Amino acid sequence: MQREPLQGRADDSSSKPPDGCPIVDFDHHDPALGADEIWTRYADLASRCPVAWSTAHGGFWLVTGFEEVKGAARDHETFSSAEGHLIPMIGSSRSIPIDFDPPKHTDYRAAIARVLSRERIAELRPLVHDFLTERLGEIATRGSGELVSEVALPLPLMVLTKLVGLSEETVEVLRPMTEEMWDRVAKEDLSRARSEIFALMEGEIVRQGEEGGGGAIAELAASTVGGRPVDFGELTLMLTAFAVAGHETTLHAVGNLFFHLGTEPGIQEQMRADPSLIPLVVEESLRLRAPAHGFARSVTADTALGGIELKAGDKVLLTFAAANRDARRYSEPDSFVPGRDERGHLAFGWGVHQCAGAPLARMEMRALLEVLVRLPEFRLASEAVFSGLEGGHHMGPRKLPVSFLDA
Ligand code: HEM
Repeated sequence: MQREPLQGRADDSSSKPPDGCPIVDFDHHDPALGADEIWTRYADLASRCPVAWSTAHGGFWLVTGFEEVKGAARDHETFSSAEGHLIPMIGSSRSIPIDFDPPKHTDYRAAIARVLSRERIAELRPLVHDFLTERLGEIATRGSGELVSEVALPLPLMVLTKLVGLSEETVEVLRPMTEEMWDRVAKEDLSRARSEIFALMEGEIVRQGEEGGGGAIAELAASTVGGRPVDFGELTLMLTAFAVAGHETTLHAVGNLFFHLGTEPGIQEQMRADPSLIPLVVEESLRLRAPAHGFARSVTADTALGGIELKAGDKVLLTFAAANRDARRYSEPDSFVPGRDERGHLAFGWGVHQCAGAPLARMEMRALLEVLVRLPEFRLASEAVFSGLEGGHHMGPRKLPVSFLDA
């Protein structure tokens, strides 16, 4: 789609963005877009043109400003999720609940929220603590380790086995299968790209049904949408959401947290001296390196965002990770400020699609720090290796070699 270079609101010339906006060269699927440069690109975009037009993938609005991202996420009627959360969205396959608008979204979301209840998270907390105490204690005693493969990945996978009863065999293949899926989502039909994961989840549903256990799958199966029971396909999609969203983002969130602790002097010491900082350190890590970068919306009616005219049918990428470093919102946006009292960041999104797993992820990250403050300090032993934007929206460390100082 060819666009005229930018239109500010006709009746308000002051809302016109500066010269040079809004056409930009930005492709979130570009493999060259690595962790070294992405934050500089975001900062530049958010300061120059928080709502810019990218010509990649047929054209879409790239939103990087805090108020603009939050405003669009809050207005789910104008910024619909029903055309899919990815750009490009190839084929008709949709994810549950993220690719639906209310009222259907409300029913799906209620079913998922029941499995992620406060009580369930409280039950999981001691297991998470025990797991982390054992894993991190063992690495600290050894004196060194690699925190992505030894902790950041196994932690959310262990939680999934407890939360939705995934078998060890399923969990073993889930990560490589997910990585392969991310490689395929921008190139082929989504249902094909995800077919192996769907088959894996179908196998879980059948196995758990035969074993007759109660558990989360039975709970999801008993839920209703629009007054009727969910069908097998819907159940598979809900379980897929748990399996993929439940590990991918937490893997990166935990990896980023370790990265900040291992590279920013003083944070570990400050937390040890004042453990009440723990929740704030978790939020600051999520703000500074939001693990899930951007999610798509489709415009349902002509509208304006940040002074730019958008047309019905336009695609929009809400870049939560960029918004979290918008200098108009945050002082020292690129610095890790452990005492920053900031819970309004957008790492979990905003509005009706705000992350259903946020309380679980927060519990896991806080537990990690509660265990770490009882251990000797650690430092990165060599350079961290970061992923690119997997599937166009997930980024985090792949390798974090560390040494514990006093061990
Ligand atoms: C730190 C870890 C996590 C981060 C940063 C994260 C981030 C996000 C974001 C930004 C969204 C909003 C997407 C949108 O607006 O279109 C979202 C939605 C969602 N997340 Fe998470 N997530 C995390 C952990 C989890 C976990 C552990 C689960 C489940 C076990 C989960 C399940 C979901 C689901 C089901 C949705 C869709 C919600 C809806 O459409 O109503 N997430 N997540």
